[in-house]
Amino acid sequence: MSASLATVSYIGATILFILSLGGLSNPESSRRGNLYGMIGMTIAVLATVFGPRVNLAAALPWIIGSMAVGGSVGIFAARKVQMTQMPELVALMHSLVGLAAALVGYANYIDPGAAFQLTSAEKSIHETEIYIGILIGAITFSGSIIAFGKLSGKIGGKPMLLPGRHFMNLLGLLVVIFFGWQFLHSESVSAGMIPLAVMTVIALLFGIHMVMAIGGADMPVVVSMLNSYSGWAAAATGFMLNNDLLIVTGALVGSSGAILSYIMCRAMNRNFISVIAGGFGTGGGTPAAASGDAQPAGEVTAISSVETAELLRESKNVIIVPGYGMAVAQAQHTVFEITKYLREKGVNVRFGIHPVAGRMPGHMNVLLAEAKVPYDIVMEMDEINADFPDTDVAMVIGANDIVNPAAQDDPNSPIAGMPVLEVWKAKTSIVMKRSMASGYAGVDNPLFYKENNRMLFGDAKKMLDEVLLALKT
Ligand code: TAP
Repeated sequence: MSASLATVSYIGATILFILSLGGLSNPESSRRGNLYGMIGMTIAVLATVFGPRVNLAAALPWIIGSMAVGGSVGIFAARKVQMTQMPELVALMHSLVGLAAALVGYANYIDPGAAFQLTSAEKSIHETEIYIGILIGAITFSGSIIAFGKLSGKIGGKPMLLPGRHFMNLLGLLVVIFFGWQFLHSESVSAGMIPLAVMTVIALLFGIHMVMAIGGADMPVVVSMLNSYSGWAAAATGFMLNNDLLIVTGALVGSSGAILSYIMCRAMNRNFISVIAGGFGTGGGTPAAASGDAQPAGEVTAISSVETAELLRESKNVIIVPGYGMAVAQAQHTVFEITKYLREKGVNVRFGIHPVAGRMPGHMNVLLAEAKVPYDIVMEMDEINADFPDTDVAMVIGANDIVNPAAQDDPNSPIAGMPVLEVWKAKTSIVMKRSMASGYAGVDNPLFYKENNRMLFGDAKKMLDEVLLALKT
């Protein structure tokens, strides 16, 4: 492939990536967005492999071998991983981007051809790119591994707050700057390896420390922040390899991840800097699967599935609030069956989606779209929150933190200030979950004890099947 054709292909791929991001911003256009992304990536890979910079005869076995290994792992993971494990998988993939950036940096530094024929100024710029690329890559790698551990419950959600942690971070930064200077002034590749290795170790430790210090309740921000880091790591790799497409793609991922982090922070009423500095979520968030220790006191009123069906049948307005438990139970299809049935009977059924419901951005939207719930009845929290007072039944399916009134009423709550769906303002709220266990943030939920609240205990799928049966008979 000629150089100009490769450049045109790269421009085409860039446009497709931008269209892809645009498409992914809305559930209705997200399939198209995915398709654009897939076509763009195929073009990018083909243009790179057959482009002028690859000596195909020598590289082909390596390319085929690595694509076969990577592709097989990808297919295996995509088939095996449950929807609820998706955030862990994403965290793990971010770690690979970071690792790749760090390894490319080392390879680029060691490769005698990479800096060949560069002027001394160009060489300094090239080495700065390498240093920064490895730095971002190593932080992304270790931070993402810890995020994977926290999201999968292998590492506790409690923030690890070391004494003098800000001082340690600052000291680490100064050491990194000092060794950066040493690196740029090293006489030979072997002399440069020492500052590079020291910086890599500090960056790895910083990544671990940064994510360990963040409380369980702040993990959504961490995931999107690491997403952003992985983009910048890819952009840094692009600079090292002189690859424009990688720079642009990395910048797209980096900036969209940063915007997503900002949106997440706003959704949780958190200050981005304070999230990164750690300390929030000290209430001891544990992943919902492992939770169950926080047992608030008080009287709750249980309800049966038949009574739930009766309440729904008599309603004019119903709002369904899905959460992580709906994903665990895979109850979205039954939710849709109930919605369809009630709508046919003239009940106005809508969905209220919290921006951090579930375990990843857009988690609930994906599940509802999979079950073919029409997009026009799926509303964002801000669009629907004012409608709860005019609602007969607010049905909470496997959600907890996102409907916790303590976020508004208790300034000492670890989730204080986080906007929540005000389901308790409906005539009746029904919470569907298996027990009185707390949610991801590990905090009590006073909603369960409200006079107008009913608890439908059991697995969401099983209970909804019973409700549907009761509705139909
Ligand atoms: P959670 O607060 O985690 O509550 C989910 C509830 O679902 C649990 O209390 C659990 O109670 C119940 N549940 C679990 N399995 C169930 C099943 N099979 N059937 C019925 N119920 C089941 O979820 P949420 O309200 O969606 O809030 C999301 C939380 O996750 C927030 O704290 C958020 O910050 C955090 N988070 C979000 C993200 C993103 S980006 N969305 C990423 C990481 C963390 P039982 O055990 O009693 O059944």
